[in-house]
Amino acid sequence: SGGGETLLEKQAWTWQGVFGHYDKPQLRRGLQVYREVCASCHSLNLVRYRNLTEIGLTEEEVKAYAAQFEYQDGFDDAGEPKIRPGLPADPLKAPFSNEKAARAANGGALPPDLSLMAKARPNGPDYLYTLLTAYRDPPAGFHLMEGMNYNPAFPGNQIAMPQMIFDDSVTYADGASTERHAISRDVVAFLNWAAEPELEARKALGLKVMIFLGVFTALFYALKRQIWKRIE
Ligand code: HEM
Repeated sequence: SGGGETLLEKQAWTWQGVFGHYDKPQLRRGLQVYREVCASCHSLNLVRYRNLTEIGLTEEEVKAYAAQFEYQDGFDDAGEPKIRPGLPADPLKAPFSNEKAARAANGGALPPDLSLMAKARPNGPDYLYTLLTAYRDPPAGFHLMEGMNYNPAFPGNQIAMPQMIFDDSVTYADGASTERHAISRDVVAFLNWAAEPELEARKALGLKVMIFLGVFTALFYALKRQIWKRIE
């Protein structure tokens, strides 16, 4: 039997609304969750280490993060791969070198790249949050396939990825809550930033445009009254 409806638990996100903004400490906590929990299976190909200065990492932190991984720069004259440590301009290191390796490590399933996930799925952030938090035992009579996990947020209600976030899955330096729903919100915030890093600039521009239009309208209204003032 297939799954029925999908569950969606709407959350209040800091980036919603006209004055929406990212909470930088939250994004850094989310990065920590990505690094410590998700990065062993999921790539984040569209994010480069240097982009992380936008959420408050220092240049030194960026260099140190990149340097933990090895990258290949083509081949040397002897035909051997040229290996070097990562640099700030590199994309975050993917956990697997190709799809075959990724599937082999995941029972045939493919952990997708997470760069645009918050935009690619309908209700992206709420969907991701629900997906990470909604794991439970299947209802009686539900036929769960071998190696699959029951998750009411996922279309079909069964997913190859097991529950990944539990209470205290990470330890935060800033004292923020490590209750599993809080951790989940943090990593979703980070993934939303990854998918939409220009959001704050976009909203700031939109606000300026609205202010400009307001002034413009007032000005022309005053002008109109001036021009028509002698006509009853
Ligand atoms: C799928 C997020 C950790 C294995 C997914 C999807 C998302 C996601 C958004 C796609 C769902 C969709 O297609 O709508 C995350 C996050 C993680 C995490 C945020 C960390 C908190 C992991 C880890 C593993 C893993 C550590 C491996 C042990 C998979 C697999 C799929 C998947 C195999 C494909 C599922 C399927 O198609 O049935 N994950 N994941 N994930 N993830 Fe993760």
